[in-house]
Amino acid sequence: MASIARTAATGGELDPGFLAWSSSLPVDRRLLAEDCAGSIAHVEGLRAAGLLTEEEAVALQEALRRLPGRVEDGTLELAAEEDVHMAIEAELGRELGAVVDKLHTGRSRNDQVATDLKLWCRAAVSRLDAAIARVLAAAESWGTRDGAIAMPSYTHRQVAIGVQAWLWIEGAVLEPLRRDRRLLLAASDELGASPLGAGAIAGTTLPIDPELTASVLGFAHGPRNPIDAVGDRDFALSLVFTCTRIALHLARLSTDAIELASDGLLRLGGAIAGGSSMMPHKRNPDVFELVRGHAALRQGELVALVNLFHGLGSGYHRDLQHDKQLVFASVDGTLGALAMIELALGHIALDRERCLAALRDGDAIATDLCESLVADGAAFRVAYRSIGALVTRMREQGRRLVDARAEDLAAVGLPARLLAELDVEAAAVRRSQRRASARPAGASPR
Ligand code: ARG
Repeated sequence: MASIARTAATGGELDPGFLAWSSSLPVDRRLLAEDCAGSIAHVEGLRAAGLLTEEEAVALQEALRRLPGRVEDGTLELAAEEDVHMAIEAELGRELGAVVDKLHTGRSRNDQVATDLKLWCRAAVSRLDAAIARVLAAAESWGTRDGAIAMPSYTHRQVAIGVQAWLWIEGAVLEPLRRDRRLLLAASDELGASPLGAGAIAGTTLPIDPELTASVLGFAHGPRNPIDAVGDRDFALSLVFTCTRIALHLARLSTDAIELASDGLLRLGGAIAGGSSMMPHKRNPDVFELVRGHAALRQGELVALVNLFHGLGSGYHRDLQHDKQLVFASVDGTLGALAMIELALGHIALDRERCLAALRDGDAIATDLCESLVADGAAFRVAYRSIGALVTRMREQGRRLVDARAEDLAAVGLPARLLAELDVEAAAVRRSQRRASARPAGASPR
């Protein structure tokens, strides 16, 4: 096969081993539809500039419209070329003949690949946004089912204070993912400029209007600066960072779920749990461990992308070819993890009794008791020390705060009225409802 992107000046045939090794087709064949869409817009620009006749433009556009479907249904196999752009041009050449020699007028693969990747990222933003919306809906439903249950919140992996479960699901899923959704919107801001028209590095002298091709492709405008347009991958970096942050949030939720399940507070449905090949009693939190592991993969892709860009001069460099596999892996992995968390939220349930036992055993009521004394006029640090003394006395006797009797309170100088405040469930509800003025009692997160 003689490569299209070679002349006598390039120095003869490419070594077949090097061609096979350097070809990006195995990866960038995913850009087939985007590449054809970009070429359809480019043909539009060539026609408007008088560089193609009406008939030539129609023939090219019709062939470009048909091409992705032919590959998809298996009637066309792309030839082994340097990349998807060359493979398409070669195929069009076989199909249409000489007219294809005009297709690349005023264009380079440098602006072409940047355009394709931007189009792909634009679709990825929509898919990620929809996937986050589904997780948010699943978290809301979970809150409707289990949100009123009193459970421990944790600091340092130790029982801290009792809360209603909606506060946890809101803090661990809803708020972080709402922020990620906003970050995704910010990332999509960087997808507004079409690179098409920037050519190899310095645009073209031909009268092709980049604003026309930009609007055909749904971009807000054409390239502001051709040197920047062919080298800019900020949009990919922002998208991969956003995916990494989503992955970190899902990993953190996963750790919560793993620990709650390990303590017996959260029950995992069989549909998402792993078994052991040896130990018959196991029900492992595999879905959460795998999602947590995915966050490591996202960080690897992000760091690889940053390093890929580091040290490059302005404009296009072949190094950039490696960006696509990282962007694809990051988006694919994030979509997969989001879908699995959406699924998992339908298969986890809190055990109300085990949660109450954890609140009692963990002395989760201590801070509420302190604040009750403060509400009655005590200075915080004085109340804090008194409750600390009560905790110490109870623990020395192998008892918990909720087991306190009047004589225990008296022994550390505390009022007997605190006996009425030892209900861990009531305390969790009271505390959580303070933060939920707009929320009906015991209801799910917003
Ligand atoms: N396969 C290349 C990439 O993915 C396409 C651009 C090639 N441009 C070039 N001047 N060699 O980046």
